Amino acid sequence: REVMNGELANAQVIVVSNREPYIHNHEADGIKLQIPASGLVSALEPVTRACGGTWIAHGSGSADQEMADSEGRIRVPPDNPGYTLRRVWISEHEQEGYYYSLANEGLWPLCHIAFVRPTFRAADWDTYRAINERFAKAVVDEATTDSPIVLVQDYHFALLPRMVRARLPKATIITFWHIPWPNSETFSIFPWKEEIVQGLLGSSIVGFHTQFHCNNFIETADRFIESRIDREHASITLSGRETFIRPYPISIEWPPAALGAQKPVAECRSAVRERLGIPAETHLAVGIERFDYTKGILDRMLAIDALLTAHPEWKGRFVFVQAAAPTRSKLPAYAALQAEAQRLAAEINDRHGINGVAPVHLVIRHHDPAEVFELFRAADVCIVSSLHDGMNLVAKEFVASRDDEQGVLALSTFAGASRELSEALMVNPYDPHSMGVAIERALTMPAAEQRERMRLMRDLIRNRNVYRWAGQMLLDASRLRKKQHVLEIA
Ligand code: G6P
Repeated sequence: REVMNGELANAQVIVVSNREPYIHNHEADGIKLQIPASGLVSALEPVTRACGGTWIAHGSGSADQEMADSEGRIRVPPDNPGYTLRRVWISEHEQEGYYYSLANEGLWPLCHIAFVRPTFRAADWDTYRAINERFAKAVVDEATTDSPIVLVQDYHFALLPRMVRARLPKATIITFWHIPWPNSETFSIFPWKEEIVQGLLGSSIVGFHTQFHCNNFIETADRFIESRIDREHASITLSGRETFIRPYPISIEWPPAALGAQKPVAECRSAVRERLGIPAETHLAVGIERFDYTKGILDRMLAIDALLTAHPEWKGRFVFVQAAAPTRSKLPAYAALQAEAQRLAAEINDRHGINGVAPVHLVIRHHDPAEVFELFRAADVCIVSSLHDGMNLVAKEFVASRDDEQGVLALSTFAGASRELSEALMVNPYDPHSMGVAIERALTMPAAEQRERMRLMRDLIRNRNVYRWAGQMLLDASRLRKKQHVLEIA
């Protein structure tokens, strides 16, 4: 807010993402509001609330059109409007090519180096390009000055920065890539690699979560397009235009809004155990995320299996709850994961269930932020076992939810968050045995040690919160604008 009121006082901010922050759906009892499970949304929403301006996103809810004006605009948040959400409409057929196929069967597995082979089809690339055009046009439509600050989000819009640059040459375009960028060798299999890198270089700044991903991107540009690389200043110049490549580790708002309405931890513990039908004194581990194959959900179940095999004394005294929001379920890799998770949960429950206590509870549905926070507060351990993850905000939300300074975070070394949250118990999701040992260690960790670790992690997130993430980008934007201004005068 300070940056926006000070250095960028008269600037217009336009955010572009595929996923919208508020989805309106028709349900049996009328139109209902949904807040999607998306790391991107949970990070950007508080920031946009603070900056005002316009957020352009795909209108994906069944009642979205009714809830917007004829141009697709609606003021949000619904209970206290502070900015404009401009919904862009995409047909089902286009959604297949642009979102499901190119973005989520191509770029998503490619960038996560997941063991799902990426799929590329020329027709999907055409749709992806067409949708990037449509959003670029919406940005130009919404711009009320010739130099807005455009915040482009994620792998759905790699071509958009260059398209906007062509029409608004003076815009400050900051593109943040919320997922990893693999090394140039891996990226080289993408059939349209030159175009995608050139598209991104329409930005003034391209941001990633870690320095490592910045280096990978610079390497990719160096190898596949004709540009000038300045490693000292981490910039790439293409056709006379310089783009800076910077790390901005994303975070969450502090304190999180969802914490406000929470009951004391003791009440959350008993409410959740009662709802699950498990004894009051049961130890609880939780996993909460979208049902995505990059999150290592099967792997953590295998770790629970290993733990209960090695330590049968935990049977009946320990329960693992996996809350998983269905996501991209049309895609075979996602449908297969859900089926396999259900099979594996049944098998583990069969093997280790005792006295009516099943060790694995799989709850497949959307959970709103208040429910997620209640689960976090009810847990003894939170398991984040991503096979590969840009940052992972679940880890940070768990820590933020524990104002009692108790609870243990078991965190994959392959999540960007592990670079910052070094007091978590680090796990290798590819090794169920050692992950099982770590979960056991978490379950038996003395309260004093839990407190010490929690305090350090809470201090870090309090300081490096999402306002700092956005503030840093906006400060860098402001510096570039001043530089541009000086050059213009000269
Ligand atoms: C990740 C991506 C986001 C995306 C979110 C939810 O965090 O980086 O771009 O919004 O997952 O996925 P979905 O496909 O449902 O938007």
